[in-house]
Amino acid sequence: MSWVADTIEITLDLVRRAEKAGYKAIVLTVDTPMLGHREPDVRNHFSLPNHLTMANFAKVGGEHEHGVASLQDSGLAHYVSELFDLTLNWKDVKWLKSITKLPVVVKGVLSPEDAKIAVEMGCEGILVSNHGARQLDGVSATIDALPGIVQAVDGRAEVYMDGGVRHRTANIAERNDSCVQQGEAGVANVLRILNEELKHAMLFSGTATLADIGYVQFEMLVPGPGKATTPSSQATMVKIVPGSDGTPLNVLEYEEYAKEYFPKNTYDYFASGSDAMVSLKENREAFKRLVLHPRVLRDVSNMDISTTVLGHKISTPVCVAPSSTHRMAHPDGEIASTSAAAKADTCFILSTMSTTSLEVRSLCDLITVRGIHVLALSLKSILHLTMANFTAQNSGLTNYADYVSDLYDQTLSWKDVQWLKSITKLPVVVKGVLSPEDAKIAVEIGCEGILVSNHGARQLDGVSATIDALPAIVQAVNGRAEVYMDGGVRRGTDVFKATTNTYRGGGGWRIHCMAQGEVGVANVLRILDEELKHAMLFSGTASLADIGCVV
Ligand SMILES: Cc1cc2nc3c(=O)[nH]c(=O)nc-3n(C[C@H](O)[C@H](O)[C@H](O)COP(=O)(O)O)c2cc1C
Repeated sequence: MSWVADTIEITLDLVRRAEKAGYKAIVLTVDTPMLGHREPDVRNHFSLPNHLTMANFAKVGGEHEHGVASLQDSGLAHYVSELFDLTLNWKDVKWLKSITKLPVVVKGVLSPEDAKIAVEMGCEGILVSNHGARQLDGVSATIDALPGIVQAVDGRAEVYMDGGVRHRTANIAERNDSCVQQGEAGVANVLRILNEELKHAMLFSGTATLADIGYVQFEMLVPGPGKATTPSSQATMVKIVPGSDGTPLNVLEYEEYAKEYFPKNTYDYFASGSDAMVSLKENREAFKRLVLHPRVLRDVSNMDISTTVLGHKISTPVCVAPSSTHRMAHPDGEIASTSAAAKADTCFILSTMSTTSLEVRSLCDLITVRGIHVLALSLKSILHLTMANFTAQNSGLTNYADYVSDLYDQTLSWKDVQWLKSITKLPVVVKGVLSPEDAKIAVEIGCEGILVSNHGARQLDGVSATIDALPAIVQAVNGRAEVYMDGGVRRGTDVFKATTNTYRGGGGWRIHCMAQGEVGVANVLRILDEELKHAMLFSGTASLADIGCVV
C-alpha cells in the first residue's frame, strides 16, 4: 500500500481490502508528505487523462493546506496533495501495525536512524528508496545509503532497495519506455533481461547463489573512473523567449531569460565571474556535492521558515545580497527590488554602487554593509546612469572599472572597520569574509554579523566556494556574531544546505530576474521559499532550527 490518506477510515478501508484480496504484505511509503515538484509536469500542466481515476480512492477529502500548493500546478500533484497527511509520523506506523497482521514494509527510508526506528516499531522490512529521485532533489543515491542501513538493521528486518537499477543507463531508459508501451510483454521482457544480466554477473563473479554475493563487500565495489561524485541534479536549461508564456519556473531559468532580454554587455556584466570563472562554477558545484539525508515520519504540518537577522524578524531565510546598478536591468531599479523584498518580508542589502540613492528606499530596516573588496569589472560606459550614492563624484570617468576603482581605497584595513564601528550605532556586518581567521578578527572588533561571500566569484578567481568556507567560519565565530552566506544559491535545496550551517541563512540571487523588475524579484523570492519548504517537507524538518542533521 502506497501512501497514507489523511483520514483513518480511508486507510483502514485500504488495509482491509488488501487483506481480503490476499496481499502478502503492506508497503507503506513514508517519505511522501506530498508529490515531488516535477517541473516538466508543471510546464505541461500535466493532469490525469479524464478517463483515468485513482481507483483505490472512491471519494477524496476536502482542501489540504500545506503552504506550497502554488508550486505544484500540475493537476495530479494537486489531486494527490489532497490525499496526503503532513502530520504523518511513526505513531501512525505503530497504529498500522496494530490494525493488521500483515507484515509492514516501510518504503522511502534513507537514514540508518530511521531504519532503526522502523525495526523497533516491529516493521518486517525496509525498502531503501528515494522514489527514483522524484521527490526531493539532492538526496543521496540509494545504493550509497544502503550499506549504512543494512548495518543499522543488523539482520532484524529484511532490507530491499530501488533506484537506478539499470543495465546501461541510456539504453535502459529507452527500454523502460517501450516496456510500458508493450504492456505485459514489455514488463515480462524487462524482468527477463535483468534476471539474465544478474545471472551473467554472478557467473563472472564466481557466485552461484545470492547468498554467495555477500563476500563482495560494499567496500570492495570500487567506483570506476566515470563515477559521479555529485548527485545528478543538473537543472535542464530551457530556452525561454521573452514575450512567450515561458515564465521561468526556477532561478536558473532566469539566466536564460536574461540572456535573451538584456543587451550582450549588460548580460555579461551581470552573469560573469572573474578570470577563468573557476570559482563561479565551484560556488554551484560545491552545493551539488552536498548530499541530503532526509528523515521520515516527523510531522511536518507546522511549517515555519521565519528567522531573525540582527533582532529583526523576517519571514524567510532568503535575503537579497547587495548588487550594483539595478536600473541598468530595469527602469524601476532598486525601488523595484526593495519593494519586492519588503513585500516578501525579508532583508535587502543596498549596494553602495546603487543607481538609486539610499534615501530613496522603501525598506525601513537597512543594514549598513561596507564592501571590503575592490570591484574590478570591465564594462562599457553607462552614461545615462549614475552611482546615486556618489553624486558629487560622478564626472569624468566613462569606464565603469576605472570609475569604481577610483571610489575605493586600497589602504582599507581592520582599523577602518573599527572606525566605522565608532561612528555609528547601527550593527555592522562585514561581507566578503572567507577565512576563519578574518571572521575571528571581525568578532573581536565587535562586528555583529559576517557575510561569508566571494561576491559571486566576481573578484578573485580560484577562491573556495562559499558553502565550503562556511562551516569553519561558523565554528570560529562560535555564536558570537550572526553568520550569513551568499554565492551559488539557485535552489531551495541550496538555502536548506546553507541553513544547516548558519541557522540564519542568507543567500542572494543573480540580478537576472530584474529583467522583469519587481515581478521578477518577487518571483525569485517566492520560488526559493517554496523550494525550501519542499526540501523541508521531504526531509522531516518543520522549522529552520530542525535542519542540521540532514546534510
Ligand atoms: C551584477 C552584480 C553586482 C554586484 N555588486 C555588488 C556590490 O555592489 N557590492 C557587493 O558587496 N557585492 C556585489 N555583488 C556580489 C553579491 O552581493 C553576491 O555576493 C553575489 O551575487 C553572490 O553570488 P551569486 O550571485 O553567484 O549567487 C554583485 C554581484 C553581481 C552579480
